[in-house]
Amino acid sequence: MSLNTQVGNVKLQTPLLLASGHITETPEFFLRAQTFGCSSIVTRSLKQHVPPERLKVPAPRYAVFDKDSMLNCEWGNEKPWTEWQDHGVSQVKETGCPVIISLSGRDLDSCCYLIQTFDKMGVDAFEINISCSHSGALHGNLNVDVLHLKKLMKTVRDVTTTPIWIKLSYSNLLIPMAKQAEKLGADAIVCTNSIGPGMLIDTKTAKPKLGIKGGGGGVTGKAIFPIALWCVHQLSETLSIPVVGCGGIFTADDVIQMLMAGASAVQLYTAPALKGPTVFRKITAGLKRFLAENPKYGSVNDLVGLTHGKTDEHRFSSPRPVVLEERCTGCGICVQSCSFNALSIVRRANKNALAVITDNCISCNACVGVCPSKWNAIQPSS
Ligand SMILES: Cc1cc2nc3c(=O)[nH]c(=O)nc-3n(C[C@H](O)[C@H](O)[C@H](O)COP(=O)(O)O)c2cc1C
Repeated sequence: MSLNTQVGNVKLQTPLLLASGHITETPEFFLRAQTFGCSSIVTRSLKQHVPPERLKVPAPRYAVFDKDSMLNCEWGNEKPWTEWQDHGVSQVKETGCPVIISLSGRDLDSCCYLIQTFDKMGVDAFEINISCSHSGALHGNLNVDVLHLKKLMKTVRDVTTTPIWIKLSYSNLLIPMAKQAEKLGADAIVCTNSIGPGMLIDTKTAKPKLGIKGGGGGVTGKAIFPIALWCVHQLSETLSIPVVGCGGIFTADDVIQMLMAGASAVQLYTAPALKGPTVFRKITAGLKRFLAENPKYGSVNDLVGLTHGKTDEHRFSSPRPVVLEERCTGCGICVQSCSFNALSIVRRANKNALAVITDNCISCNACVGVCPSKWNAIQPSS
């Protein structure tokens, strides 16, 4: 039962990496996270020269919503990149974990200079970020700019043999962009960055919740998980290079879904940023439990791409969900969710009320999703 995996020739002790952002400005957060099963760090996206007006991030910089999702308007390294050169890289290397340097892919000269500098230190991969949603809205959307991607790949591929991962976000051009990156020598695609821009308004003041001009920030966390999963599935069915999944991963089940969709490994940001580094301990424990309960899978690698070939046809019928009597409390939440009048609550003498599924049921599965999760009293029948 092994959690070891790799992305190309970057070897990882678990499939869990810390994604780029404020908590990877310095190695400190990672040094704690790696004791709980996080296997590598992607640094904050570094620029050689940060324009003076971008050394400060507008405030508020975060707006958390629905507990597990957020908007942010950060825009790059607040500390000088040289801190990674002076001590950050060596601090990570002392743990034995690979270090991945994220670079802003906007300024190609600066990108090349940083690649050449960090190559001398023997870093394990470069992740090039061309997909920040709110910075794209302010300064030009590189995430859909095929010409810029071509220039970028031709330039950076010439200066290094170290693996280059290209980080893309969801867009209508995701697949053509990824194919172009692969054709020009990218070693992996990381998907997704924040999605957006999005916006939230404080109704007391009618002002946007974020301090950034224009009010738009990148959406991350649970809200984007299904989009990220879809992207990973599409990419990994299309490309030959590995795909690293990112976006809304909080649990072992989320990781398993990403692997089944075709990710070779995953990155997390919002979950560790909001819940702390121990989130990696819960996830690694959950992955080990899943492998122990499913001995046909010897390792997490056996899960990669299992969903491929399983989406080729529409399915028009499925068995009805089943109510587990011993777990149902008769709370009636499922009844509200049923648009097909197929659920009712039956009162039973000396026993809890019980949800009963009738012949109107068309197996839409809405009730499965709304049943309060600690009970899981309505199960999809397999
Ligand atoms: C506050 C914040 C700062 C971020 N900064 C960067 C960055 O510098 N470079 C980058 O490639 N992605 C950055 N991201 C995007 C994350 O690395 C990640 O792709 C995104 O948050 C989706 O994953 P998640 O839902 O697990 O957070 C940032 C995200 C947040 C929330």
